[in-house]
Amino acid sequence: MENLKRLFENNRKLVAEVTRDDPDFFKRRAGKQEPHFLFIGCADSRVPIEMLTGVAPGEMFVHRNVANQVLAADLNLLSVLQYAVDVLDVKHVIVCGHYGCGGVKAAMSDEPAGLVDHWLAGIRELRKRHASEMEAVGAEEAQFNRLVELNILRQVYHLSRNPIIQQAWSRGRRPLLHGMVYHLDDGLLTDLVLEVDGPERVRHFFERGHLPIAG
Ligand code: CO
Repeated sequence: MENLKRLFENNRKLVAEVTRDDPDFFKRRAGKQEPHFLFIGCADSRVPIEMLTGVAPGEMFVHRNVANQVLAADLNLLSVLQYAVDVLDVKHVIVCGHYGCGGVKAAMSDEPAGLVDHWLAGIRELRKRHASEMEAVGAEEAQFNRLVELNILRQVYHLSRNPIIQQAWSRGRRPLLHGMVYHLDDGLLTDLVLEVDGPERVRHFFERGHLPIAG
């Protein structure tokens, strides 16, 4: 119970600090959200994205699941994506994974892990499809890191193939798709692929071998 109490205490303290300098901080943001970003990240508790990027309430729409998957049959993801793109008109959709990801780690082998095996099937596929590249990067840790990156790139590719994104692109140039990776050790974000803004860039990045992720 102590831990839960701490949540409320911290909440009161933070609200008091923020409103001391800016009494209308929360009121101003309560009426309407106009986020520029949709963030699709891992559910891992060590990736506090708002804190890491300094965004204020109302600036980032967030969807998180195990190992930051973009799956065409995931109704939750699709609902978030459609609302973010069609209604909120976000300018950027970011897929962000992280090194040391437990979901990707579980996909490093075919060892049964229970229900999550269904969720991780796509990452295991990816590992097998990129087996020679994985071996070429070196020891197990390097392979694990590479699979984290390949997974992020793959999910950006899935986004680019999604009808919600494709229809948005056919109406204009929004949104831009990005892939990023977070380093648990030092708190830094690194970009893997930036500003995929239409079919041309998808071909450039994913289908001409720059990032061998298609197929
Ligand atoms: Co993770």
